[in-house]
Amino acid sequence: QQEMKAQGRNARDTIQHVHIIGAGAMGGGIAAWCALKGLRVTLQDQNPESLAEAYKHANGLFRDKLGDKRLAMVARDRLTPDPEGVGLAWADLVLEAIPEKLEAKRQLYQEIEPRMKSDATLASNTSSIPIDELARGLAHPERLVGLHFFNPVEKMLLVEVIKGDKTSQQTLDRAMAFAALIKRVPTPVNSAPGFFVNRVLTPYLLEAMIMFDEGVPAETLDAAAEEFGMAMGPAETVDLVGLDICLDVAEHMSGLIRGDAPAMFKNWVSKERLGRKTGQGFYEYKDGEPQKTK
Ligand code: NAI
Repeated sequence: QQEMKAQGRNARDTIQHVHIIGAGAMGGGIAAWCALKGLRVTLQDQNPESLAEAYKHANGLFRDKLGDKRLAMVARDRLTPDPEGVGLAWADLVLEAIPEKLEAKRQLYQEIEPRMKSDATLASNTSSIPIDELARGLAHPERLVGLHFFNPVEKMLLVEVIKGDKTSQQTLDRAMAFAALIKRVPTPVNSAPGFFVNRVLTPYLLEAMIMFDEGVPAETLDAAAEEFGMAMGPAETVDLVGLDICLDVAEHMSGLIRGDAPAMFKNWVSKERLGRKTGQGFYEYKDGEPQKTK
């Protein structure tokens, strides 16, 4: 712990500005958290609604965590919505949090790598894609690292720090130090589909989807898991993560896990029934709360 604190202090000298691409559930949450912890943050998204939503969420977080109006304003001033990605050019760390699609992420890297500072680190919040696959085509694969935060960012302490074959030790150290700097708990893991957490979590979530498809109600599944000691049941977890993200993760891990997501689930995703973020998944959401019948 002492070592982590020292790493965090050193990181403050080298990481002052973070540019985040993708202002959805994760990118928005990470941006708000970094600004709260004193970093300058530029937040880029191709969708103005995502940016507006993320900014609103961040302001709520600053008010809740800081209490004092003036301090909340100071934190707000550190976070700049940046639809054109101007901040890319001077960020010390660029963190990508766009959807879990290999080709989309690779294409984005082709566009942004030449615009980044030569000593900047590129991090991906991917939850399942091996870093080596993401690194293919990069001029500097040694600067790419996985930084896998969990949802919701302000509550979840763990960050998986994922090393690809080509990730340099310097990049890895910097990613570890960055996570410590913003008071998260960095855990180094090797690059394999699903890393550690999703390798354990995804089969469990998938099995729950299969049971739901077989006729077990979502409430029953969640109540059983909560009785067993889980903080949140599997149906509610899938709704929180986003059905689209869960489906993509399951597909990236298809060689490793038993079974496939049921057709009903793919059908929901095709109809934009994505969980909490669209107001309906396994549950309907009113004011952010699942409407359970039991
Ligand atoms: P999301 O769907 O909530 O947000 C993605 C955002 O990226 C959207 O606002 C979209 O407009 C934007 N976007 C897409 N393409 C873009 C581009 N080329 N340039 C700029 N913006 C672009 O997705 P979410 O859930 O935040 O996931 C993002 C990443 O984080 C994925 O890799 C996912 O696997 C990972 N992740 C997700 C978790 C979750 O619980 N949802 C947990 C941990 C990791």
